[in-house]
Amino acid sequence: MKDRIKQIIEKMTLEQKAAQLTQISYANVTKEQAEMWAKRGVGSFLHVIGDEAKRLQDIAVNSGNIPIIFGIDAIHGHCLNRNATVYPSQLSMACSWNIELAERIARETAQEVTTDGAHWVFAPVLCLARDIRWGRVDETFGEDPYLTGELGAAMVKGYQGEDNSVTTSVAACAKHFIGYGEATGGRDSYDSEITYRKIKDTFLPPFEKAIDAGCATVMTAYGSIDGTPCTADDTLLKDILRGECGFDGLTVTDWANVDHLVNTHRCYENTVEASIAALNGGNDMMMFTAGFYDAIISAVKQKRVQESALDTAVEHILRVKQRFGLLDSPYKNTDKSVLTCVEHIKTAKEIAEESVVLLKNDGLLPIDKKSKIAVIGENATDIRAQYGDWTYFTHPTPNYETKPVRPYVTLLEGIAARAKAGYELGCHVLGEADDGEIQKAVELAKNSDVIIFAFGDNVKISGEWHDLGKCEPTSSQQKLFDALCAVGKPIISVMIASKPLCIPQIAERSNALITNFNGGMFGGEAIAKAIFGEINPCGKLPITFPYHTGQQPCYYAQLLGWHGTKYQDLPEKPLFPFGFGLSYTSYSYTDVKFDEKNLKLSATVTNTGDRDGTEIAQVYFRDKVSTVLTPVKRLIAFKRVGLKSGESKSIEFEFTPKNFSFVNKAEKRVTEKGEFTIMVGGSSDDGDLTKLDFNIDKDYSF
Ligand code: GLC
Repeated sequence: MKDRIKQIIEKMTLEQKAAQLTQISYANVTKEQAEMWAKRGVGSFLHVIGDEAKRLQDIAVNSGNIPIIFGIDAIHGHCLNRNATVYPSQLSMACSWNIELAERIARETAQEVTTDGAHWVFAPVLCLARDIRWGRVDETFGEDPYLTGELGAAMVKGYQGEDNSVTTSVAACAKHFIGYGEATGGRDSYDSEITYRKIKDTFLPPFEKAIDAGCATVMTAYGSIDGTPCTADDTLLKDILRGECGFDGLTVTDWANVDHLVNTHRCYENTVEASIAALNGGNDMMMFTAGFYDAIISAVKQKRVQESALDTAVEHILRVKQRFGLLDSPYKNTDKSVLTCVEHIKTAKEIAEESVVLLKNDGLLPIDKKSKIAVIGENATDIRAQYGDWTYFTHPTPNYETKPVRPYVTLLEGIAARAKAGYELGCHVLGEADDGEIQKAVELAKNSDVIIFAFGDNVKISGEWHDLGKCEPTSSQQKLFDALCAVGKPIISVMIASKPLCIPQIAERSNALITNFNGGMFGGEAIAKAIFGEINPCGKLPITFPYHTGQQPCYYAQLLGWHGTKYQDLPEKPLFPFGFGLSYTSYSYTDVKFDEKNLKLSATVTNTGDRDGTEIAQVYFRDKVSTVLTPVKRLIAFKRVGLKSGESKSIEFEFTPKNFSFVNKAEKRVTEKGEFTIMVGGSSDDGDLTKLDFNIDKDYSF
């Protein structure tokens, strides 16, 4: 492979190399410009699919150029194509804690995107969502590095397949490197005030797992780490990513990052300086900074940068193209029968059901299908809210008015298909509360046995560029809820949203509360099935629900040292903890043992209720004395355990000393000898965990 690639590079002109490092957004250029880039030998286009992608590839190949690699954002299915399967968002699917399903979703997504000629998906997102003010929480697997790494690595394998070169395999992209979700104040693309030690300890592990899974590409984040833009940070992209993690694929900047170095970060005077910094920083492909092409050519001619630096980047790109078969067969399969095929629909339903999280139930659920039901709130019918971001409604340009394509099932449709005594759709409350609509809803509620109140957010107030200072239901939703509470009928509140909202009042006053965030095509149906008891909810939260936006940071892996341990005007605990989720049955953990010599944990999990179910057993640990502060607990394993009513199963976990490690002040990963605690149970809350102390009798460094 290297010989062939070296030979190709030797024959390339400086201009062809500069073009190969360029990625053009098809949605932002004219057809003529796109053709010009194809003739010039552009390395990649993003967001062009189908016949147009093939036409551009034909132009490139017929011009004697290296085939173009087409990239697309397929974060929860090939959602930019209206006929594709829309799976739950990453945050939603993370509620299932189902690694096998995550891999299957990615495999099926790869099959669907390749029918449109795409070779590369800009997924999985491996950012950690530890501040819900950030607009892009929905794209993550939540707050935890271990869960994110397990699900992310599974999706990498799914996207890339066993054989990368076949027509249904695509290159995956671990993004955004790095610490993007940790931007101060949850502000999208703002500076992350973290150290390289913190990066290596907390934010790098998911990327390490993705790289170990063979991830072919990494995307450089928009933001900056302690004032250095990620795009210009060779410590990040060369020393850490390639040197320490052994990454050997291609790096691509995020959207116009080279331009941002000049116009946003104002770290470089002009595009030439910024292009030199981006290339020297360790970026191989520059997403949509068209000026990079001329800038880097002139930089080489001015001897400001060695042409060999371009050769290195071109080599990284060609290796990926070779690995995914492009150099031999530039076209992917075009059999569109796989789009929303029976198998993929089945997967989308399965994951939607496993991602339903029951947050509260005073015994009201499951309800009888003969109940007279008032379904009230716009998120019961808004498929855009149910889908969330990164679908054909939102990208490559917002198209909210686009007519949605079946199949899909909203919450109302899911209820309607099951309710025997009928149901009535309540009001659509959008924008400021309309008293007339609220009055209609109240009348409906008065004539019902039970109210289903559907609330949450929508794609107009979430996503990139849409951070929130108050992560709460809209004032009109709150006003509607208050009016419904006054009716005095039982209320089932359903949250369909891109992130945890701060809902202590709704949680307090509802008889039941249930969510699956953005559940995809069948998210509404899955919640309806849970409400009627057709399924037993088994989802667990991958992210903490703060009591109030101001309570953050309140992710479970907290450090010690806070004088007072709480804000004086808020409770100490969050509203719902990481790993939490109820069921229509109950589970117990007994016979918990830890063999400290072999680092083996065993326990017996029993279904103590009268319904079959699946428990997600979680294992955390604590290092009781460490030379830098380490969290009060950290997730290091989990297992989904299917249990019939009354059934018991023994579960076992085997660990190595590295599972109990952290990154020390010298930025080395170590496990220090001393006292530890291991914990197992059904959530991260201490009340749900059985704890055992143990000792590690020597130091380890990795
Ligand atoms: C966007 C996002 C990134 C996406 C890219 C291409 O701005 O930050 O996640 O892959 O641009 O659409």
